[in-house]
Amino acid sequence: MIHMMKHARILAAFALAPVLALSACDTMAPGPADAAGGASAGGGWVYPSLGRERPLVIGHRGASGDVPEHTLESYQRALNDGADCIEPDLVMTKDNVLVARHDLYLSTTTNIASKPEFANRKRKTDDPDYGTRNDWWVEDFTLAEIKSLRAVQPFPGRPKVYDGLYQVPTFDEVLMLAKSRVTVASNPVCVYPEAKAPAHHAKLGKPDMGDEILAALGRHGMAGKGSRVFIQAFEPDFIKALNAKTELPVVMLIGDKAAYDAIMARPDAPFWDGLGPNTGLLIGPDGKSTGVVEASHAKGIPVHPWTFRDDQPVNGEPIETTLRKYLALGIDGFFTDFPITGYRVRNEAQFKP
Ligand code: G3P
Ligand code: CA
Repeated sequence: MIHMMKHARILAAFALAPVLALSACDTMAPGPADAAGGASAGGGWVYPSLGRERPLVIGHRGASGDVPEHTLESYQRALNDGADCIEPDLVMTKDNVLVARHDLYLSTTTNIASKPEFANRKRKTDDPDYGTRNDWWVEDFTLAEIKSLRAVQPFPGRPKVYDGLYQVPTFDEVLMLAKSRVTVASNPVCVYPEAKAPAHHAKLGKPDMGDEILAALGRHGMAGKGSRVFIQAFEPDFIKALNAKTELPVVMLIGDKAAYDAIMARPDAPFWDGLGPNTGLLIGPDGKSTGVVEASHAKGIPVHPWTFRDDQPVNGEPIETTLRKYLALGIDGFFTDFPITGYRVRNEAQFKP
C-alpha cells in the first residue's frame, strides 16, 4: 500500500509533467510516429504512456555512443543532445567514494593498461560472480589513483578521438554538473543513478551503496520528494531495502524473462516504483507486446527499457523504426547511447490539446 501511494505521488508530483514540459525548442510538428501511435484521450502525449506523459530520454552512460562513457563530458553531450536524464552507473573506490563506472574493473573503459605504475596491481577476482577475470578493480584503487586515469571508448566502431582526455568523475561531481545546468527544454536535469553490484560491495565490507547514494543526493539538495531522480539496481533485495528508506522513485532493473518471472512471483511484489527491463522483455519474437508494459501500467508503475543503440540495430531495422514501436507500446522513458536520436524520434510525435 505504501508503494502504491508512492506510485501515485510519483505520477502526480514527481513531476514527469514539469520534467517533460514543452518549451518552444521542444515542440515539433507531428511526424510519421504520430499516425502510428495511440489515440490521445483528452489531450497529452499521443502514445499510451502512463498519464499520457512524454517519455523520458535517458542518456545511457551519458552520450556513450559518441563520447567515452561515464565522463562529465559524456553527460554534457547527452544534455546538449536532448536528454532529460543522465545515467551514472556507480561503483565504490578503495577509500569508499562513489565513482561513475559501468564495470567493477577498469581495463576496458580507461587507459590503466598503459600505466606502468599500476602494472603489478592487476589480479584475478575472488568473486565467483566475475569468474576468473584478470583485471584492475576499482575497489583496489583510491580516488586519487582513479583520478590519474583517463577514459577511453570501449565500443568498437565508436569515436576514439576523445580517448585519454577525460577523468572518471565522482558521483558528487555528476550531481554538481546536473545542478549547474538545464536540459535543452530548459527543465532541471534528471539524474538516474544505478548502484552496480551492491551485494559485492557489501561482501567487501563497504558502506551500504544505497545509503551512500542517498547521502550524496542529500548533500546536493536532491534527496527530497519531488527531486528529479530515479535510483536503479538489478538486485531485488537491495531495491526493496532502498525503497523503504527514500521517497525518491526506485527502479527495478530486469535482465531477462527468468528474472522477471522470479520477481513477479514474490509475494511482496511490487516493491519498486519503476520497472527497467531489457527491451527484449517487452516485444516478443512475433513483434507483439509481451504484456509486461500493460501489466506494469495496470499497477501504476512506469516502464523504462534499455538499451537503444543506433549502431546495434534490431533485425537490421533503422533505430527510428525500433524506437517508434516501443513508444507506441507505451513506454514511459528509454535508455539510449545516442540521445540525439532518441530526442528527435520522441519529439516527432506531439502533444494533443
Ligand atoms: O541501467 C539500465 C541499463 O544501463 C542496464 O544495463 O549494464 O548498461 O548498466 P547496463
Ligand atoms: Ca546502467
